[in-house]
Amino acid sequence: MSFKSLVVLAALATVLNASPLERRVTCAGGQTTSNEACCVLFPVLDDIQANMFGNDTCGDASHTALRVSFHDAMGFSLTDKSFGTGTDGSIFLFGDIELTNPVNLGIADAFNLEAPFINAHPEISVGDFIQFAAAVSLTKCPGTAQPTFMLGRVDATFPAPNGTVPAPTDNVDVILARMGDTGLSPQEVIALIAAHSIAGADDIDPTLMGLPFDSTPSTFDTQFFVETQLRGTVFPGTAGNAGEAMAPIKGELRLLSDSNFARDSATSCFFQANVNNQKLMASNFQAAFAKMAVIGQDVSKMVDCSDVLPPVIPLPGSEAQAFFPSGTDQEDVEQACATAAFPSLPVLPGPLETVPAIVQDPATDGNCDDDGSGCVLSEFPAAAKRSVAEL
Ligand code: HEM
Repeated sequence: MSFKSLVVLAALATVLNASPLERRVTCAGGQTTSNEACCVLFPVLDDIQANMFGNDTCGDASHTALRVSFHDAMGFSLTDKSFGTGTDGSIFLFGDIELTNPVNLGIADAFNLEAPFINAHPEISVGDFIQFAAAVSLTKCPGTAQPTFMLGRVDATFPAPNGTVPAPTDNVDVILARMGDTGLSPQEVIALIAAHSIAGADDIDPTLMGLPFDSTPSTFDTQFFVETQLRGTVFPGTAGNAGEAMAPIKGELRLLSDSNFARDSATSCFFQANVNNQKLMASNFQAAFAKMAVIGQDVSKMVDCSDVLPPVIPLPGSEAQAFFPSGTDQEDVEQACATAAFPSLPVLPGPLETVPAIVQDPATDGNCDDDGSGCVLSEFPAAAKRSVAEL
């Protein structure tokens, strides 16, 4: 081979090596990622893994971090700019205003959990922090598909008004319209509702906390879709709470909105399709969550930092099999989807169960109260880096 051909080959090899698909950078801490801009996330990840989530294995801290990502995202409208700029951190930046909205009741927990870490990491925006923490929380819940994370949200300069986040007392049409106005289709809304598979309520029944929405609140499995379709027979605590419907087993809480999603002709077939279909549930949620996480932001100016996220935990094969909780069976299904039968499932053997409450993380308690008082980032001793004046 001539010297000239060798030079050409060498040049070609350099170009191929430099292909954006192949290029990896090594960050100061020794981790590798596809884009230098993503290096900023590794210290944040290490800190929240060790100190914010600690030993949480899809428990209260993970649930709390996930819920707030939704409430922040809803501050956006395709038709009305006054609704906000979506995943822009406004829920915390204007916590003293937004957290007084009744539908944000309990988001104070997320503020208490995350504010010290937001203040310790001014190198990323508040909007980025909220969505990053939510993506990390998903990696703690067995059964999720690998989430994505885009870096580069621009923080809010004004709060989202009341009424951007759907309430459990809203009917299906109202919820679909509000979420449709942020760009989400009815299928995507039901895909996102899979989050209620790893969730519970602290504030619906004022007498009880940590009431799970299904019997497996620390596993991203399809039980939520099974159990929400069963006839409701019991309240976990008191009756007559707004936004609550009867649940099929003791200890569990059913949101009225979830009950309606399972039974309304606009959503019932999308809802039922998840039953015992772990793969579908996980992949639909993965796609819809990626879309929700950038609502209101200019994606063309963001960087894909998905490779910074830890790997997800697979669901053991046996746990991917949906079941009827003991004491219930096929007869309890309130069939709503008109075009497909509810799958037949095994009944969990054993005595009738009472689902235990989700253990509360003490870090969700703090200066920020449910009425919005104390929900100001600059009140945290470590920081005060993000007063609105600095935005
Ligand atoms: C579509 C309409 C939705 C409504 C009406 C709704 C309503 C609620 C309500 C009332 C609670 C209980 C709050 C409490 O009392 O502590 C809750 C919990 C939760 N929701 Fe939703 N939600 C919706 C969609 C979503 C979405 C799209 C996500 C995430 C992608 C989500 C994630 C969660 C999580 C993780 C919790 C548990 C929080 C915790 O245990 O700390 N929700 N939701």
